[in-house]
Amino acid sequence: ADTAGDIGYGKIILLGEHSVVYGRHAIAAPIPLHVRAEVTAQANHIDLVIPRWGVEMRLAEPERAISSLHASITLIAERLGLADRGMRIDVFPHIPRANGLGASAALAVAVIRAMARCFDIEISEREISNLAFDCEKIAHGTPSGIDNTLATFGKPILFRRDNANSRADIEDLTTPHPIPVVIGLSGVATLTMQTVGSVRAAWQKNPERYESIFSQIDALALAGAEAMRKGDLVELGELMNIDHGLLNALQVSSREIEELVQIARDNGALGAKLTGGGGGGAMIAISEPDHCQAIASAMRSAGYNTFITEIR
Ligand code: PMV
Repeated sequence: ADTAGDIGYGKIILLGEHSVVYGRHAIAAPIPLHVRAEVTAQANHIDLVIPRWGVEMRLAEPERAISSLHASITLIAERLGLADRGMRIDVFPHIPRANGLGASAALAVAVIRAMARCFDIEISEREISNLAFDCEKIAHGTPSGIDNTLATFGKPILFRRDNANSRADIEDLTTPHPIPVVIGLSGVATLTMQTVGSVRAAWQKNPERYESIFSQIDALALAGAEAMRKGDLVELGELMNIDHGLLNALQVSSREIEELVQIARDNGALGAKLTGGGGGGAMIAISEPDHCQAIASAMRSAGYNTFITEIR
């Protein structure tokens, strides 16, 4: 049978999660973790198999049409004009699930690419990102579009959703030297829909108060883009620390994330903050290259999974 495989990238948000949902700027960068999908044409049914997540489902079984995953795959097949074709979709996620690292968007992008490739369907990068955005709406309700954009293009960007014109402004970001990043996993699954929902509830009650926090975060993201272009890690770290304080004001941190942030700062991080939806999930720290190992091993000693990467 014809098999085609492809990937979607995971991401970290350096500055601007949550406020990005309200039309403010955010900075995101890919991580070297991805989701890979393989699509094999077969007769009749669409089967989805994700061994790592214990998923094995036949999409034609309506009684199992309960998950957003099922709904997303069905949407992808429909939009590519393949709803009546049979195929087996194997997914190999190398990004931890529900950690604010963009696994769901990376999965959607990997499946879209592999399906299009398997059935010889032409699809542009922008169309891939837009379709993954519609999948993210099923999973998250009101996504900003930053996850699907990163999952598709896999480059550092300054991102802003133009709500009025329902489009995204995307600017490539470059940095003169790679920026060392330690990622700490809290070990607690995060549901982005939940933290986005609690921020929305607070904003609805008191829009002015929260709009002003979002605008402060916007200013940090814009200053962060400048710091990245200059390779000014000290400035970027300070901006991340302040952003984490404002994310705390939004009450989207957690006990474990706070512990990880403290460990990072105690061990020489220039900046440390939660990344993604929060309420658990992951945090990131930046530092001079020779401090990364110390930060990561202190996190491991405290019982957390970590990995070291860099933004380039
Ligand atoms: O938790 P993640 O990886 O889905 O990141 C979400 C980032 C938010 O700003 C909280 C939501 C969004 O859609 O931008």
